[in-house]
Amino acid sequence: MEITVHTKTKDYPVIQERGILKRAAEVIGRQGHVFLVSDSGVPEQWRNILQEQYPDAHMHVFACGEQSKNFDTLKALLEDMLEHHVSRADTVIALGGGVVGDLAGFAAASYMRGIAYVNIPTTTLSQIDSSIGGKTAIDLNGHKNCVGAFWQPDMVLVDTDVLSTLSPRHYSNGLAEAIKEGLVFDEELFSVFEKDDYLEHIDEIIHRCLEIKKNVVEHDEREAGERKLLNFGHTIGHAYESSHGLNEYLHGECVGMGMLAIMENEELKERLRAVLKRLHLPLACDSDPQEVYRMLLNDKKADHDTITIVQVDEIGKGYLQKTDIESLWRKLI
Ligand SMILES: NC(=O)c1ccc[n+]([C@@H]2O[C@H](COP(=O)([O-])OP(=O)(O)OC[C@H]3O[C@@H](n4cnc5c(N)ncnc54)[C@H](O)[C@@H]3O)[C@@H](O)[C@H]2O)c1
Ligand SMILES: [Zn+2]
Repeated sequence: MEITVHTKTKDYPVIQERGILKRAAEVIGRQGHVFLVSDSGVPEQWRNILQEQYPDAHMHVFACGEQSKNFDTLKALLEDMLEHHVSRADTVIALGGGVVGDLAGFAAASYMRGIAYVNIPTTTLSQIDSSIGGKTAIDLNGHKNCVGAFWQPDMVLVDTDVLSTLSPRHYSNGLAEAIKEGLVFDEELFSVFEKDDYLEHIDEIIHRCLEIKKNVVEHDEREAGERKLLNFGHTIGHAYESSHGLNEYLHGECVGMGMLAIMENEELKERLRAVLKRLHLPLACDSDPQEVYRMLLNDKKADHDTITIVQVDEIGKGYLQKTDIESLWRKLI
């Protein structure tokens, strides 16, 4: 399945096909050199498949984990690109989850004021959410995605076969973003998770999410309006993440807890709780609420005393709501 994402800066294909990693070079088919980026948690079997197709290319592999999404890793990556004489005509190919995509994407955005970038996402989270849309970033002093750029990829290759090696925890973590997209935009998508055989529908889940994200990004590339809807559960979710020093909970886990905390419709909350439980996702964050609130106040989306949040009262119909920050305190306790 192939979709084209149209943005102001470029149009690019997102190709979802089992086994496509094995013929990535043929599909990418670019002139110039390529520079490969991955992390130590991406199983060698996938890295080798890519490397074998580009025997002369250097693969930069950094230590896996959110704690790598920082200036030190970015600097080492950019230095390695320079050392390997990467030029403006060359292409960065990222093979990994959202951390690899965010770092390699930001490196591609900033190296020589921007070079081509292909993303091959290998986690549910990155296939569902982070690989399209052009957001790239690193964390700063414990603040998520504080420094970054909008930089659209030239191509995205989604191979669901690579998910076979993903740990159950990371698998469910990414699906939290799909649950979010269902709640905000697509009731049918949400209802897939209410059945026990949801894992059999993984290709369809990912495809629906890519379609949703494409439509949202095309309407609102820079997140001036509609794209903000994708932030459902993220305001409190990011605060949960930051309050734990970005280590204990995963991003999707925090989004799941953040959605549950922000929703007001009790019946919907019950349905969401049941789905999160089915996927073994946590329901409540054990952070000190005062610390979470402090993180909320620091949030870059906060504008003085008010904050724009996403609310869902009816499945598939998310909307933006301005609220005073103090009212969020009641949702934390
Ligand atoms: N740019 C965006 O629009 C956007 C959107 C959502 C999230 N994000 C970012 O994405 C990051 C989270 O991404 P993630 O959940 O993919 O985490 P991740 O990139 O850390 O990957 C999770 C772990 O799985 C390993 N891994 C990757 N592919 C694997 C595979 N096929 N088999 C086995 N292990 C594999 C990784 O090495 C890592 O250890 C966060 O930093 C978040 O801020 C970005
Ligand atoms: Zn997210």
